[in-house]
Amino acid sequence: MQTIGHVRQWVRDAVHASRRLRGEGPPPVTSTFETRRHAPSAAAALVGRDATVVAIIRRTPDAVTLRLSTGPISFRAGQFVTLAVPVLGRVHRRNYSVSCAEGAVTEVEITVKRVPGGVVSTYLCAHAKVGDRFAVEGPHGSFVRPVGHVGPLVLVGAGSGVTPLYSILLSLGASDQEIALLYGNRSAEATIFRDELAALVLTQPGFRVLHAREDLAADVAPHAGGPTRAFAGRMDAQVLARMLDAVPFVSAPTALFFLCGPAPVRTAAREVLAARGIPGGRILEERYNAQDDRTDGESRSGIDTPAQPVTFKAMGGRTVSLTLLPGETLLAGATRGGLAAPFSCAMGGCGECRMRLCSGEVVMEEPNCLLPDERARGEILGCVARPREACVVEVRT
Ligand code: FES
Repeated sequence: MQTIGHVRQWVRDAVHASRRLRGEGPPPVTSTFETRRHAPSAAAALVGRDATVVAIIRRTPDAVTLRLSTGPISFRAGQFVTLAVPVLGRVHRRNYSVSCAEGAVTEVEITVKRVPGGVVSTYLCAHAKVGDRFAVEGPHGSFVRPVGHVGPLVLVGAGSGVTPLYSILLSLGASDQEIALLYGNRSAEATIFRDELAALVLTQPGFRVLHAREDLAADVAPHAGGPTRAFAGRMDAQVLARMLDAVPFVSAPTALFFLCGPAPVRTAAREVLAARGIPGGRILEERYNAQDDRTDGESRSGIDTPAQPVTFKAMGGRTVSLTLLPGETLLAGATRGGLAAPFSCAMGGCGECRMRLCSGEVVMEEPNCLLPDERARGEILGCVARPREACVVEVRT
């Protein structure tokens, strides 16, 4: 299940978030090691499928659901897809959690909340229309219920962080499994899926919703012990602790906890759960909603690098040598060289494109999600790394 891997995800997330907040600059990475391996990717073209917008559902004044016709696709509740969205002559990549019930389908829904100043979210919320076509890649992600898990679920989300949690809820159908959604928002009007959640508590006997609302002056008690109640205040550690006190199965040894939302909410949730002795192995966390739509995955670097020779050493012994174009990332170069290097976000936020720098020097866009021990091992992120001199790089394929 989620043990060491998840702890590393927490750490990666926390480090990434704190670096973003500190606005760290891009230090070069130098290595004189000798060979082994890791992976790269493309800068522009997604290896995916064409999807057409077939319906748009407004959820709040600044959030919409887009239903995309994708052709046959299978996904688990909690996973996300990557969209390539052309805006103002550029293609931008963004990851969005699927917000409909899991399964083998031909249409998926994503729900997008506008980020102030956000390039893609503003476009999708204000300008997307039925008939628009996007490239979609995925599904990706491990923010899913472990196969065979039987036990209560505690879902913690805020804002658009509710989207994968809503998919999990829908996927459980009319079961009587015990589920609590702890959901933070500024106001009732800003609450995505407000009416849908109110309807779900009527059809799922074990489901309850606990809202945290910044616009409330006082808590709103449930009617006759009903499944919906609201807590006054921002969803910080103090409010979360009060909310968890109202969940009777929170201490069940089989309970699983899903966290999705802004970094401060997830951090507070981890702290509160740790204080209650909940082991990290029972906590799953989604980090993609923390992406900053106000940056552009390809333009935020401001890093100019000249053409440089690079040798990629792939698993299985294959070696590809080529000259990277000025400004080209290692991931793009490796893909151009015919290597099937893994990647996902293409923005330095997931770690999927990790490579190992054997020799040479690269400069990476910062902040990114590389952990200190990964840096110490000479690992780099191919999607945001560009060579400053001749390099040799190991690539997972
Ligand atoms: S693809 Fe996500 S960090 Fe590079």
